[in-house]
Amino acid sequence: MNTENAVTGDFAARVADSGKTDTALRGDYSAVRADYTIDQGWDRYTDTDHAMWRTLYDRQSSLLERYAAPEFIEGLKRLDVRDAIPDFRRASDVLDKATGWTLVAVPGLIPEREFFEHLAARRFPVTNWIRKPEEMDYLVEPDVFHDFFGHVPLLAHPVFADYMQAYGVGGAKAIANSAQEQLTRLYWYMVEFGLINTKDGLRAYGAGMLSSRGETQFCIDSPSPHRVGFDLERVMRTQYRIDDYQQTYFVLDSYEQLMDATAVDFTPIYARLKTMAEVDPTTVLPTDRIFTLGTQGGSHKAA
Ligand code: PHE
Ligand code: CO
Repeated sequence: MNTENAVTGDFAARVADSGKTDTALRGDYSAVRADYTIDQGWDRYTDTDHAMWRTLYDRQSSLLERYAAPEFIEGLKRLDVRDAIPDFRRASDVLDKATGWTLVAVPGLIPEREFFEHLAARRFPVTNWIRKPEEMDYLVEPDVFHDFFGHVPLLAHPVFADYMQAYGVGGAKAIANSAQEQLTRLYWYMVEFGLINTKDGLRAYGAGMLSSRGETQFCIDSPSPHRVGFDLERVMRTQYRIDDYQQTYFVLDSYEQLMDATAVDFTPIYARLKTMAEVDPTTVLPTDRIFTLGTQGGSHKAA
């Protein structure tokens, strides 16, 4: 999900092991350029690959009207990518006209410094391979369905597009302050798993839930998770889990709220956060603006 770049401590080892061990990354890194991009190789997709895309696309798109933010639905329509795995060059033309973003192909997760540099240049790295039929519902690494379907539609939204670039610029400062974990939490909770409050109720806009049938419904319908109003420092203090649905979701009032809250210099915030306790995602704080207090009964994901 692209800041599974959080796991880049051992990134080089996972690339070197490619295809050999459990933790090895599965993409082919042998032909990467210095910035970790490759050719998408669109002509090499098989009919099975394109059929997998259509199956996933149709399954998710039937949920969007009820669960997704209207800006996401609008962006997806403009991209017009239902019928086959998108050709990134064509999608880049659509995006470039909307917000000046383009897409680059990568073999999978890339090191965080390069990831930040792409975002800062308004280039979104998209994994080129697609999951196999036996992995329909669970995937250890992000594939083209997650990266494209989940992330690209909102890049057509002017405010969110500017936010993603600002996030990339902020990456270097986080590295200099040894605050990657704090910045990564912001990505996790806002870009991967964000909710937004609309006149019709809470809606999902995060890529992590919108590329997952189960979590798209869980994040809105389930009594289990907490849903807490966005607060920058609260988010940056909160741990997260990568192996199950989230136990807390944070809710934006608007994308402008996210843009405005993150426009400040993070240097003093990073310093202060180092003196504060981290927050367990199953708990809430007295200062929280609570939309729903979860039962923390669990996700039943395994069922
Ligand atoms: N304002 C942040 C900083 O000074 C940069 C940033 C912007 C980080 C937007 C995340 C999102 O570091
Ligand atoms: Co992602």
